[in-house]
Amino acid sequence: MRTQTVLTSPFEGQRPGTSGLRKKVRVFQQAHYLANFVQATFNAIGDFQGQTLVVGGDGRFYNREAIQIILKMAAANGFTRALVGQCGILSTPAASCIIRKYKAYGGLILSASHNAAGPDEDFGIKYNIGSGGPAPENVTEAIYDRTLDIERYLIVDADDVDLDHTGSFDLAGMQVEVIDAVADYAALMQSIFDFDAIRDLLASGFAMKFDAMHAVTGPYATAILEGTLGAAAGTVMNGEPKEDFGGGHPDPNLTYAHELVEIMYGDQAPAFGAASDGDGDRNMILGDHFFVTPSDSLAVLAANATLVPGYAGGIAGVARSMPTSAAADRVAESLGLDCYETPTGWKFFGNLMDAGKVTLCGEESFGTGSDHVREKDGLWAVLFWLNILAVRKESVADILVEHWQQFGRNYYSRHDYEGVDSAAATAVLQQVRDQFDSLPGTQLAGRMISTCDDFSYTDPVDGSVSSNQGVRVLFEDGSRMIFRLSGTGTSGATIRLYLESYEADSSKHGLDAQDALADMIAAAGAVSQLRELTGRDKPTVIT
Ligand code: G1P
Ligand code: ZN
Repeated sequence: MRTQTVLTSPFEGQRPGTSGLRKKVRVFQQAHYLANFVQATFNAIGDFQGQTLVVGGDGRFYNREAIQIILKMAAANGFTRALVGQCGILSTPAASCIIRKYKAYGGLILSASHNAAGPDEDFGIKYNIGSGGPAPENVTEAIYDRTLDIERYLIVDADDVDLDHTGSFDLAGMQVEVIDAVADYAALMQSIFDFDAIRDLLASGFAMKFDAMHAVTGPYATAILEGTLGAAAGTVMNGEPKEDFGGGHPDPNLTYAHELVEIMYGDQAPAFGAASDGDGDRNMILGDHFFVTPSDSLAVLAANATLVPGYAGGIAGVARSMPTSAAADRVAESLGLDCYETPTGWKFFGNLMDAGKVTLCGEESFGTGSDHVREKDGLWAVLFWLNILAVRKESVADILVEHWQQFGRNYYSRHDYEGVDSAAATAVLQQVRDQFDSLPGTQLAGRMISTCDDFSYTDPVDGSVSSNQGVRVLFEDGSRMIFRLSGTGTSGATIRLYLESYEADSSKHGLDAQDALADMIAAAGAVSQLRELTGRDKPTVIT
């Protein structure tokens, strides 16, 4: 065993979020850089002597090298067992599943989600706790603190572990088990969904496409959809994970998953299309010439949950992030369930699920999940939809139209202004804040404003308070205008403008969201002075 003196904190003074440490690959490749984070994590997480660590990643460039360093450090630090996905692969939800199933102490997940991969692109690492969820803030803060006072790290001198074959190896006294990356996750999916019904649906000529975008879900989707469920060969597109994700940007939305979108809006469109992101936690759902917004998707899953064996007994409650549309709230209300509105970010859902308060949760940013793991789960959402389609035997579009008839339609859109000057972005939010006292009781976009505030959340489980989570203009009819600064952007600031209006009358449900929201969009621009303050006359991305 070697002890090694280390460099300065890899965080460079920037406090970590729950997504852990994300930097360029070249930064991670600096001597002792990754080791510093790993040792600081081991120093921060308590007594794991004799325990199990789960290790795996999305397969991006530097994944394998990182895993070798982590395993040697885990052995030197006193873990007695490590579970590693074959070829170093574990999707984020699969890692969460394995941590829970094998009662591991925790796991290190290597990913920068949908960020581009390759020698000049991004790498990332985060620690998940024994519940399978991302480390909560007290743990990420402790890790950060340890990166500041760390003086050395421990690592064993040993040969690299063969990651390509499943099997058990001794690494300086630690047992390394290279496990099938898919099997445990696939078994969990089979325990939740009606695989027989989905198999019958796929055998009946129901055509679908799943775009793995050359990222981690390829092996999972191929094994489950084409292998177990009998979908036609070729159902999974871009199914081979590549270290550079094929040069693409594996973010499942209408902009980046354009190959799938073209198929779903083409002449030969199949009945169902879906995509997932770099590490497998996000999802996008499409029907034949039809896009399901993530907010509507959560509402449909909640309304139809009892059609799925794993939720046949009913769900405990629903949670959505504040900017996500209130479509799920209407379902929860009609089912007599609690609906929680949390700040943006997955970490807030974990407490609610651990306490048994919610079963389903989701965000407008293509993240949906349930208490089966403690991460959002892309393929799970796809299987949920397939299970619903198999039972209801209707098209995706018909299911949505009926849903809107029953619950009303929440027109919804997010406009992103990326790479904005930080001071200008702050000024836009302040411009709205300055009118908090004068706006309520006045009309905007033909609607009466009821309240304006900075969203604040008190966690109902641990009482912790999160303030300044988004500037809101709320209307009497349930419409909303929300201004928020992204916490994940890399260059400059990103302003996210979220727009929502509610329409109960089903004869008015056929509109395109941008058309339905046109007056809200114009009013949001006027009230925030966004164009004047940022010099931008249109958003970078519209979802
Ligand atoms: C974005 C999404 C948010 C999601 C996060 C991590 O954060 O908006 O819903 O939880 O990525 O995937 P933002 O950049 O808005 O802070
Ligand atoms: Zn992701």
